[in-house]
Amino acid sequence: MPDELLHLPVIQNILTREKDAPGALLPILHALQDAVGFIPEAAVPEIAHALNLSLAEVRGVISFYHDFRTSPPARHTLRLCRAESCQSRGSEALAAQLREHLALDDHGTSADGAISLRPVYCLGACACSPALELDGQVHARLTPERLRALVNGCLEGETC
Ligand code: FES
Repeated sequence: MPDELLHLPVIQNILTREKDAPGALLPILHALQDAVGFIPEAAVPEIAHALNLSLAEVRGVISFYHDFRTSPPARHTLRLCRAESCQSRGSEALAAQLREHLALDDHGTSADGAISLRPVYCLGACACSPALELDGQVHARLTPERLRALVNGCLEGETC
């Protein structure tokens, strides 16, 4: 059985629970991503059928929101803050450093599945800008050297 079909019972449970609610598509997609870690391709026709939408409509919503993933998440997720306070303290240069170090764009995932980059707009750590969140933990007062050490830790398989 293809891996994606393993998720069909989860998809069906979520659809049964959520499909009749107004504006059900986004809650269904969030619930599915929370349960599985991403939106499996096998879910798209199931969701489209349950909500009487076209495949293109469902895919359009998934691709519109950067927070939805269509592949399994990386082992580490690094969310660099790009909002005003962090911008004024050098986050754009740190973002450029990340892109160059990992050869990824701002929403990329490394080919080995080690790390995903996601921009975020304020982590509530403005007084200690610039800041990032790595696997749910906030790191503030970043410098290029600290950022490089955090990323290298992820790439070398350390717990970050
Ligand atoms: S602006 Fe970056 S933590 Fe608030």
